[in-house]
Amino acid sequence: MDEVRKRFILPAVAFGGVPPDVVIARPNLFNSLTQEFIPDQSVWIKDGRIAYVGSDMDFVKGPETQVIDAKGMVVLPGLIDGHTHTVSNRYGIEEFVSHVIPTGVTTVITETMETATIAGKGGIEAPVQGFEGQPIRFFHTIPPVCGLTPAEESMAPSLEDFVSLLKHPNCLGVGEIYWGNLFLENEQGERLKGLIAVALEMGKVIEGHTAGAPLRRLQAYAGFGISSCHEPITAEEVLERLRLGFWVMIREGSIRKELPGVAGIFKRQIDFRRLILTTDGVDPEDFLEEGYLDAAVRRALKMGIPPALVYQMVTINVAEHFRLDPLIGSLSPGKMADLVLIPSPEEFYPQLVMVEGKIIFKDGQNLVEPKKVLFPDPMFHTIRIGDYPFPSLPTHGKVRAIELVSRLVTQERLIDLQDPEESKDLIWVLALDRLGSGKRFMGVLKGFGLKRGAYGTTMNWDSTDMIVVGCEASSMKTVMERLKENGGGGVFAIGNDIVAEFPAPLCGLISLKPMEAIRDETRHLDASLIENGAKWGKPTLTIDTLSTAAIPHLRITHHGYVRLKDRKVLTLEV
Ligand SMILES: [Fe+2]
Repeated sequence: MDEVRKRFILPAVAFGGVPPDVVIARPNLFNSLTQEFIPDQSVWIKDGRIAYVGSDMDFVKGPETQVIDAKGMVVLPGLIDGHTHTVSNRYGIEEFVSHVIPTGVTTVITETMETATIAGKGGIEAPVQGFEGQPIRFFHTIPPVCGLTPAEESMAPSLEDFVSLLKHPNCLGVGEIYWGNLFLENEQGERLKGLIAVALEMGKVIEGHTAGAPLRRLQAYAGFGISSCHEPITAEEVLERLRLGFWVMIREGSIRKELPGVAGIFKRQIDFRRLILTTDGVDPEDFLEEGYLDAAVRRALKMGIPPALVYQMVTINVAEHFRLDPLIGSLSPGKMADLVLIPSPEEFYPQLVMVEGKIIFKDGQNLVEPKKVLFPDPMFHTIRIGDYPFPSLPTHGKVRAIELVSRLVTQERLIDLQDPEESKDLIWVLALDRLGSGKRFMGVLKGFGLKRGAYGTTMNWDSTDMIVVGCEASSMKTVMERLKENGGGGVFAIGNDIVAEFPAPLCGLISLKPMEAIRDETRHLDASLIENGAKWGKPTLTIDTLSTAAIPHLRITHHGYVRLKDRKVLTLEV
């Protein structure tokens, strides 16, 4: 009630009886509700909220009133990233916040699935606590934890825990549910339906993931009450999803850059109010070289998409999808004073960024520090692999292999080990449970290109495994030992020599070093793999994703290969 009553001072400011704290004087104002740029407007701010927006400048000037001359500038609502993965891009929350502040993004809506897969309920609560009290606004979704098989979902919170996590005031709903998992007719599918039921009853949104879903499946998926998707890669897929009532997020980050592929949608005479531009996460290299959602905005502007539409896709459209529009997404009375000043509609280069009436960035400088985040000690000790005999490697007969058909997409391939042509470019791939069961599976990977040494990672998507790929057992053993010593991350070794490494001791996923150091270490890892034959750009990501249920077709766990189409667990021998 007190929070609500606090805003009752705003009408008195608008009537001119009470002085505002801050006035943004005479900018060209972007009204995200009407798609207009309106010249010579002023924004009066009191207690972090907007009290008045219009052409009047006859406010009561108090001794504390700060007037910011913004003539010749454009003011926009602060940008909202509607779908990102703060905790999966290898950096800590403080580094993320420091680097987001200059980008004009004032609200981040993030998934929390990565640490949840490894550390369960605590892996959600710890980052959520870390998001609180930061100089930018955070909201989060609770991860459904969608693994290849029930074993990868072993740390998923119980339904009871899930309900309590959903009650957090900054929780907006359930994070991305892979469509393939929802339709499983087993305990995995049933568990997800249970989550959806309680979340919808609580009035929360359910985030979707419909990559490659055929139309009939897409309809059925929408029928469950899932309201968004960030996976379409063509204009047709965007349109199909918009027509079915999804809020469609065009992803423009490190995993994929979809703007060129979906560009045709902007030529259509349709309503774009359910279209959102988002990052789905940005890795340190892209972050430092190009930026974050600001980089996506600049690319969209460069493609000729009208600025008013671009800015709606990163402000009001996102706010409305998450029902945050009474709070953010527009510059109108009663809303939070989250805003960004830029030189012109076509030039998205923030000069000043404000959150809740407080300037956090000005003249190229951050004016605030991120809040320090502490994680519980057990989250730094998650690599529990034993000293068991290394699996023996077959040298003849027919085997089943994962073949890479692109950087991320794989297929199932049968190989005769005595056939020199078929056996070309084959290396071993070992998946072992890193949560302590000792279970492991040795398979074969074709098409990665590695000619010597071994690379191992604990940064596998949606998995509790460590995955090691290698040409020789000796290098693979070195990698496993080093990953254990480092508490996880990525390691490339040749024989006994560590060639490159990225220690990521927090859940085996995250480093708490500065973003520049993380960029340098991961770049060195990728470069070392490429120098030794790996043929895909950022080859570490190729291996990190061998375990996910989100990308087709054949994946790996510690109990075998998993064919996504029918979720059959398959052996090495045919
Ligand atoms: Fe995502």
